[in-house]
Amino acid sequence: MHLLVLNGPNLNMLGKREPGIYGTATLESINAELAQIAREAEVQLTFFQSNHEGALIDTIQAHWDAIDGVIINPGALTHYGLSLRDALAALHLPIIEVHLSNVYARESFRHTSVIAPIATGQISGLGAAGYALALRWFMAQKRA
Ligand code: DQA
Repeated sequence: MHLLVLNGPNLNMLGKREPGIYGTATLESINAELAQIAREAEVQLTFFQSNHEGALIDTIQAHWDAIDGVIINPGALTHYGLSLRDALAALHLPIIEVHLSNVYARESFRHTSVIAPIATGQISGLGAAGYALALRWFMAQKRA
């Protein structure tokens, strides 16, 4: 199983960025934890973060035939990134949307996700643990 782990705008700043909302874990530490879990399960992960919607889309398209699913925290693109949504929808693969914060407990513009309707599921508000939980869901599918 090969999964793409995508992070959108500003998530490269995790650890420094509003730690009261997003926690103190860095993206590097989150990805290192995922890599460790994946290694034990013989799951291959490809990590990519960008502050640019087009770069995320280019990466999705570049891995088109090679992946079995996507774990994505789209950052603020969650709320308006229709090109990103279209690229993910075209994959016809399982997609888990992850948010560190509980977007439904925050500003009203964060209550709408244009990604959620084309995602298999969404994890919101569980902090960095949300990424590992998404990975474990994929691992459970592999066993089933
Ligand atoms: C976020 C929530 C988004 O609303 C925000 O724009 C982010 C991070 C989260 O992980 O909680 O950049 O996706």
